[in-house]
Amino acid sequence: MKQRIVIIGFGTVGQGFCEILLNKKEFLKKQYGLKWEIVGIADKAYGNVYNAKGIDVPFLLEEAKAKKQFSKDASKWDTLTLIKKSKADIVCELTYTDLKTGEPAYTHCKEALKSGKHVVTSNKGPAALHYRKLIKLADKYGLHFRIEGTVVAGTPILNLAAGPLAGCEITRIRGILNGTTNYMLTEMEKGMSYAEVLKVAQELGYAEADPTGDVEGYDARGKVTILANVVMDGQLDIDNIPCRGITGITSSDIHTAKEHGKRWKLIGTVEMKDGKVTGSVAPEMIDLTHPLAGVMGATNALTFTTDLLGDVTMVGPGAGRWQTGFAILNDVLTIDSAY
Ligand code: HSE
Repeated sequence: MKQRIVIIGFGTVGQGFCEILLNKKEFLKKQYGLKWEIVGIADKAYGNVYNAKGIDVPFLLEEAKAKKQFSKDASKWDTLTLIKKSKADIVCELTYTDLKTGEPAYTHCKEALKSGKHVVTSNKGPAALHYRKLIKLADKYGLHFRIEGTVVAGTPILNLAAGPLAGCEITRIRGILNGTTNYMLTEMEKGMSYAEVLKVAQELGYAEADPTGDVEGYDARGKVTILANVVMDGQLDIDNIPCRGITGITSSDIHTAKEHGKRWKLIGTVEMKDGKVTGSVAPEMIDLTHPLAGVMGATNALTFTTDLLGDVTMVGPGAGRWQTGFAILNDVLTIDSAY
């Protein structure tokens, strides 16, 4: 069947996802039998569009890149009406993350599921704050709520735990979950100051709109919450997870670590002990011989400690236009293959 898709939020990820769909249209059809149509987009900056027969994606992509309002297939429906009334199979929720309330993404996901649509999201808000409620709703209606892009972009973390690692008991997950801070620590080791390097990280687009979320560890804490509750079946509340970022790390701390054959990394940890799941985020001095110490720049890495395989480490990009767009595509392919 043809998957009719509605995209909510047409920023970097939404545009990247559409570029992949267009660039790989023939490959996706030939290799996986995926046929798709984008029938609607809702975006705060560019407006809402809908056409049940399919919108002109290349044209609207050009308008968005030129920061112009959408001028074709403009719809009078507001975003919630578009979600509820559109003839779509999948809603991709790709708006900006709010880790305090999860909104407006939580309502978008909830209404999409209630109106019979699968949901794919890279938005950490609904996944970190409301996962249980949303997965219960999805199960009730026989739908998918898929969130691979919420943790380490398209680098397969949640899918790895649920798929290839199925059958292993995972007792610990530990690693670098934020690209901005890893990039900053890498550059500070080369001699740049904290303020200089934060500015460059923002210019390069690694940092969140408000970089406080990155440097204080809140972004990593959101991902720790998702890993704890999704992979380890925990019941963690994001606000109760101890969290310290890198704001206290000085050039002198970095120099001291180097002298001792170590390197600072912002580490997120989820652990299962005596049936209880705990999580934390804090900077740690890692021995240079440890696999995580060699992960530099904006790259992310996670080590799963398992009973049958021992440690399994996945290293890959944790952000980016096509890197996160790929996560959305992968979830769409999973949904498509189930029908
Ligand atoms: N600001 C985040 C990071 C983006 O630096 O990793 C991905 O969540």
